[in-house]
Amino acid sequence: MPRIAKLYFKTAIIFLIVGIGIGLNMAITRDHSVIGAHAHANLLGWVTMAIFGGYHALNPRKAERRLAMVQYVVYTVGVAVLVPALYLMLLGNMAMEPVVAAASIVTFIGVLLFAVIIFTGEQAATTISPAPFR
Ligand code: HEM
Repeated sequence: MPRIAKLYFKTAIIFLIVGIGIGLNMAITRDHSVIGAHAHANLLGWVTMAIFGGYHALNPRKAERRLAMVQYVVYTVGVAVLVPALYLMLLGNMAMEPVVAAASIVTFIGVLLFAVIIFTGEQAATTISPAPFR
């Protein structure tokens, strides 16, 4: 599996642990005010990162491109700042609002970079010769 795919799965599982931790805490305390942080940790973190990792695993030539690592860093920094800032904002710390806004934009740029990965580099991705059947 390409390095970037492994990195994405390792990062994704951390977000699932954090996301479920927030979910369990909501369920136990019966305070659902941080529902947005729970949903975004699970969906932008676990689900989307696992899909990004799966895409790279299926496209190893694209995974070798420098753009893949740039996209990983931008997207991961965006989500890693967004989730705790959103959590604190939902708990009433409104000073976090501009941080949430900035992190949301960084996350979106990460998504746009992934769109570039999907739509470009097809030539490199399809020139892998298939392994011979034995
Ligand atoms: C043991 C694991 C989990 C626990 C204990 C948990 C707990 C919760 C709780 C207590 C709520 C609030 C419900 C409400 O106020 O209506 C919630 C909402 C939500 N959860 Fe989880 N959750 C878990 C896993 C997940 C996972 C894996 C995902 C996504 C991949 C997820 C996505 C969501 C979403 C999107 C909402 C918002 C639903 C809505 O607003 O209608 N959760 N969860």
